[in-house]
Amino acid sequence: MSEDRLLSPNSFAEEDFLDQSIRPLFLQDYIGQDKVKENISIFIKSAKERSEVLDHVLLSGPPGLGKTTLATIIANETGHPIRKTSGPAIERPGDLAAIITNLEPGEVFFIDEIHRLNRVVEEVLYPALEDFAIDIVIGKGPAARTLRIDLPPFTLIGATTRPGLLTSPLRDRFGIMCRLDYYTVEDLTDIVIRSARILNIDIAAKGAGEIAKRSRGTPRIANRLLKRVRDYAIVKGDGMIDLDIANLALDMLEIDDLGLDNVDRMIMDAIITKFNGGPVGLETLAATVSEERDTITDVYEPFLLKLGFIQKTPRGRVATKRAYEHMGYPMANLDNPSLFNDD
Ligand code: ADE
Repeated sequence: MSEDRLLSPNSFAEEDFLDQSIRPLFLQDYIGQDKVKENISIFIKSAKERSEVLDHVLLSGPPGLGKTTLATIIANETGHPIRKTSGPAIERPGDLAAIITNLEPGEVFFIDEIHRLNRVVEEVLYPALEDFAIDIVIGKGPAARTLRIDLPPFTLIGATTRPGLLTSPLRDRFGIMCRLDYYTVEDLTDIVIRSARILNIDIAAKGAGEIAKRSRGTPRIANRLLKRVRDYAIVKGDGMIDLDIANLALDMLEIDDLGLDNVDRMIMDAIITKFNGGPVGLETLAATVSEERDTITDVYEPFLLKLGFIQKTPRGRVATKRAYEHMGYPMANLDNPSLFNDD
């Protein structure tokens, strides 16, 4: 994965630190995802009425849309602390047992990238989620016994970019499932204006709108672009982000008017020029643009699919008419006329 990619929704440690201040802490400050917010708010209120812990929550959706932020908000709204880890960080069942036996009653336990949890660890989680208990095997061979240890009631929040990779026993143990979708330009504009206010950046509504328009529906990218455009405003202007400065900066950053960057364009260019519009297999495509297969599926592809630039077929990825038009190529793939009826 190209870590230096400006549009990559993956977080960097330093940026995470800076972002702490602009992350909303309560539902009322969280912009967009209205249906998810409304549902979560109801489930939290109901759990409080019943004096029970909130059911386990699965948050899914492309990277950078605020799954971790939402998990923190859920903890804040329930009034309980949150403990965060990630699927790949929990290597052995003992690691998981050590964490969950130390949770406080009502605590929120957040596992990012939960689809990457290994199976042995996952099996410890089943009784923990269902009965708030874990089974520990003591001894070996015929003398082995299992000991059940009760846990305090807690809420697991799992986050995943790939809900389809969760095993069904794990998926079935989440009582609440929320899918985050790409944000509208209006919501992203509000997010940029809010972040600019917190970071003391002077911005005009049209400047915020332009950043929002080119942030591929993703708050993490919008906030990152806001900081980079601010740099241009300071050096090339008077520090104020207006439409002209936003356009100048985003053009210099080579982010086009749909929010596509170099890598997105390389992907589309490869499908169109090297593979005659497709179909091209995922492995071949990843090798051609020198990216990891998972990076293509998790980061780039969802937005290109949403734009209607590529279609997935059983034989691979295919460029659509819309992609040819945006990339400025004449349509070539006459073997596949059905793919061009995309209006
Ligand atoms: N910062 C990142 N995501 C946000 C959101 N959904 N609302 C407000 N600020 C944000």
